[in-house]
Amino acid sequence: MRHESQRSNIQTFHVMDVWKAAIERQRTHGDVLTLAAGQPSTPAPKPVLRTTHEALDTHLLGYTETFGIAPLREAIAEYHSTKSGIEVDADDVVVTTGSSGAFTLLFLAAFDVGDTVVMARPGYPGYRNTLTALGCKVIEIDCGPDTRFQPTVAMLEELPEPPAGLIVASPANPTGTVIDPDELAALARWCDDHGTLLVSDEIYHGIGYGDQVMTSAWETSRESVVVGSVSKYFSMTGWRLGWMLVPPGLRPALQRLASNMTVCPPALSQYAAIAAFTPESRSELDSHVQRYAVNRELLLSGLPEVGISDLAPADGAFYVYADIGHLLEGTRGATSTQWCSRLLQDTGVALAPGVDFDTVRGDRTIRLSFAGSTAEVRESLVRLSRWMRP
Ligand SMILES: Cc1ncc(COP(=O)(O)O)c(C=O)c1O
Repeated sequence: MRHESQRSNIQTFHVMDVWKAAIERQRTHGDVLTLAAGQPSTPAPKPVLRTTHEALDTHLLGYTETFGIAPLREAIAEYHSTKSGIEVDADDVVVTTGSSGAFTLLFLAAFDVGDTVVMARPGYPGYRNTLTALGCKVIEIDCGPDTRFQPTVAMLEELPEPPAGLIVASPANPTGTVIDPDELAALARWCDDHGTLLVSDEIYHGIGYGDQVMTSAWETSRESVVVGSVSKYFSMTGWRLGWMLVPPGLRPALQRLASNMTVCPPALSQYAAIAAFTPESRSELDSHVQRYAVNRELLLSGLPEVGISDLAPADGAFYVYADIGHLLEGTRGATSTQWCSRLLQDTGVALAPGVDFDTVRGDRTIRLSFAGSTAEVRESLVRLSRWMRP
C-alpha cells in the first residue's frame, strides 16, 4: 500500500475543525454564531452578481490566458495605481486561484528546497505550512505588542544570514495590525540590499480603522511581490481569485508553473471580478467596512467587560486577537482549543483558538472574526458574558 508523502505531514488548519464542529452544532441545535472564519457575511457586490449572470449567458467560459484575462489584469493594475499612487501595468499582474494559489506558485517559482523564509509569529499559518510542504525552512520571528506584532529591520539584522524570503502581511491576520509606512519601506530596502525576496500580503487593504496608513511594498521596491485577493475587502471568498504584482524576473518561472499546475484561474470568477473594481461596487464594499467598524467597536468595548482585555491593536482586517491565558483554569479548559470547544458546546459561539497562528503561545490565545453581522457580534457578546459569569 502506498503511504502519504513526508512533505504532506504539515499542521492542519485547525480553524477548519472549529468550522466543522460549528456546522454539526448548527445541525443539532440551530443556534450557532460564528466568529471563527475570516469570511464576510455579505455576498459579492451587486455589479459582480449581474456580470456573472451576463457572463453565463454570453461567454463560452473556457480556459483563459494563464496569467488571467486582459481586462481583469487592467482593472487590477488600475486599482493599485490609484490606491498607491504608482504606475502599475497590466503586465505586472498575475491572476491566480485565490491568494492561496498565488503563494504556492510564488514559493515554487522563487524558493528552492532548503531555502530559509522568514515570517512573523503570530502570523497566517498558510505561509508556514505551504513553505514547509515545499521543503523550505521557515523561521518565525517572535513579534509582540512593542512592534505591533510586525517584524522590523532590527529583527532581520539579528538573523544569522539574510534569508531567501521575507513574508509580511499588513493588515495582518490574526492581529489586524498595520506596518508603519516607514518601516515597510525600510524592510523593502533591506530585502533589496540583501538579496531577499519580500512578499507583501496586502489582501486586507481597504479594511482599515483610524488613521493607520496602508502603504504598498511596491511604493518602495518593484523587486518585491505584492499579493492581493478578492476574498476580503471585495467580499468574494469562494470565488477563488487572487493576484500578484510580480517583477519581470519571476514571470517566466510563474508562467511555466502556472500553465502546468492550474492552466488558468476560474474563468467565470475572472469575468465577474472585473465589475468588483467599479465605483458602484466600491461604494457597496465601503459600506461593509463601516459595518466592520461598528462590530470592532462592540468587541473592543465588550470583551474587556467579560474579562478579555489583552487585545492586539486591530488597525485593519476584521479580527481581534486576544490573550486569554488568565482564563485557562477551572472547568473551561486548560488550552484555548479546549476553551473554544467548551464555549461552542455551551453557548453555540464559535471562535478560533490561536494554535494556527502562533506555534508557541497559541494555546493561550483566541481570534475573533467580526466580518459577520452586527447582530451576531452583539449576541455573541451577550452569550459570552453569561458564560463567563462566575
Ligand atoms: C493573511 C492572509 N493571506 C492569505 C489568505 C488566503 O486568502 P485567499 O486564498 O482566499 O485569497 C488569508 C485568508 O484568510 C489571510 O488571512
